[in-house]
Amino acid sequence: MTEKKRIRAVAIDGPAGAGKSTIAKAVSRALGWVYVDTGAMFRSMALFLLNRNISEWEQAEVSRAVADANVVLSFADGEQRIILNGEDVSDRIRDERVGNAASRISIYPEVREAVMKLEQNAAEKGPVVMDGRDIGTVVLPFADTKIFLTASAEVRAKRRAEELRSKGEHCETEDILRDIRERDERDRSRETAPLRQAEDAVLIDSSELTVDEVVRRILALVRERESKETLR
Ligand code: DC
Repeated sequence: MTEKKRIRAVAIDGPAGAGKSTIAKAVSRALGWVYVDTGAMFRSMALFLLNRNISEWEQAEVSRAVADANVVLSFADGEQRIILNGEDVSDRIRDERVGNAASRISIYPEVREAVMKLEQNAAEKGPVVMDGRDIGTVVLPFADTKIFLTASAEVRAKRRAEELRSKGEHCETEDILRDIRERDERDRSRETAPLRQAEDAVLIDSSELTVDEVVRRILALVRERESKETLR
């Protein structure tokens, strides 16, 4: 049997609000690896289009315009900052409006290709923990450890609403739940790189687990893989 070339990376995929970024950050801190938030890259592209009043429904215009979006990742104290055409947009891209626009434009192949280049460049520089929707299936198919992290839509909506309220933002859990369901449907049904579990990914349903429990499970998997590698 031919051995696939493996790379030292943890790929964490899953639907919106499953806790991917919280978990990925904690795992990267424990391993001392760089955390790459790929949703932030799609969000930056979406913000770029919103700033230019380009409608996310106009595929041709969107596909042309994203070539002008210069997205650069910078890492300070292990934290990823996103610089869009010279401006740090790490906080502005967290808006729900930007997230929904990001999901809409992420169906376009030109947008996915532009982001994929950024993702693969980041992974070439050293071991990474990368989260998104298609990391284990398309972006880093040879990642050593793949996780599909999910939770029920209700639990995800409740967590997202609590997170927004803790930042002083007013929101209704029902509205968030509706957005999450719409986004799930779009992310799963798009033609290019839809959200799905990679065959060799480990499924973790975090509905009834604490952050700590999920992190410990992932770290155990990484250590198991790493010890196998050193035995070879
Ligand atoms: O994870 P997030 O909410 O920040 O992502 C915003 C949107 O970006 C998400 O709804 C779909 C898209 N996305 C994607 O298509 N592929 C990725 N690897 C990451 C995000």
